[in-house]
Amino acid sequence: MLITGASSGIGAACAQRLAAEGDRVYGTSRHPGDETDTPGVQMLAMDVNSDESVTAAIEQLVRAEGRIDVVVNNAGFGIAGAVEDTSIEEAKALFETNFFGMLRVCRAVLPTMRRAHQGIIVNISSLGGLIGLPYQGLYSATKFAVEGMTEALRMEVRQFGIRVIMIEPGDFRTEFTANRLYVAGSKENSAYKESFERAINVVEKDEQGGSSPKQIAALLVKVLAKRSPKVRYSVGGMSQRGAAVLKQIVPNRFFEWALMKYYRV
Ligand SMILES: NC(=O)c1ccc[n+]([C@@H]2O[C@H](COP(=O)([O-])OP(=O)(O)OC[C@H]3O[C@@H](n4cnc5c(N)ncnc54)[C@H](OP(=O)(O)O)[C@@H]3O)[C@@H](O)[C@H]2O)c1
Repeated sequence: MLITGASSGIGAACAQRLAAEGDRVYGTSRHPGDETDTPGVQMLAMDVNSDESVTAAIEQLVRAEGRIDVVVNNAGFGIAGAVEDTSIEEAKALFETNFFGMLRVCRAVLPTMRRAHQGIIVNISSLGGLIGLPYQGLYSATKFAVEGMTEALRMEVRQFGIRVIMIEPGDFRTEFTANRLYVAGSKENSAYKESFERAINVVEKDEQGGSSPKQIAALLVKVLAKRSPKVRYSVGGMSQRGAAVLKQIVPNRFFEWALMKYYRV
């Protein structure tokens, strides 16, 4: 089993839990061998932004184990800023990790999974992949892209005995908040400054007041045991999961109004 971004947060919690269940777990980090290594987990070096790095890590894993049963595509980060304040370079860097990084890992493991006629790919999306979040618009865009790619991939690889699943977390207490990048344009004379700061305050409070990522690890264990898993599993506080359901049933105008009021936009 391989979990990308296993040095921290959700990836570390999932890696630890699955290792405790007796699975052979490999985790990845851009800096393996330091104090962030997860105990009980074999850490591999991988930067999901690099073709060479992803290929080398997957080759190392296949050489050691001969197969890959499960891949959890979790590595990712967030950026905050108004859409207008986000430069194309900042947006591309985010897509490089959150979307192309996931695609790279999928493409690297699929030949081995197809040959074995089995495998499970779990892509970590977000409730922000179902709802465009104000001042996290580019982050939401990467996760909407993950949602679309994953839905299609799932249908394409079923013929090879491979199952593809998404987990959509709400707000969880991890290093995600501290690691979030603020776009440069949000700092200098942004026309959005006050509304942006109010919204991001709400976001950060919700994340740091969120549940432990152990809850996601527990869901992952359950999902991996299913013979016929669904395409998506949301996880998080009732109000956050409820918002994604509400979006589908109430008029768009009302949903937008409620979201803007909540984030004080
Ligand atoms: N926390 C939340 O509230 C929340 C909600 C919804 C979705 N998510 C999603 O959950 C996933 C994990 O987030 P988290 O909350 O656990 O955040 P985190 O604590 O900041 O952990 C992020 C992990 O991703 C890895 N990573 C970042 N960039 C990478 C790159 N270029 N190549 C390889 N690894 C990279 C980091 O590893 P190294 O730095 O060691 O390389 C780290 O292990 C992300 O995809 C995020 O979008 C989180």
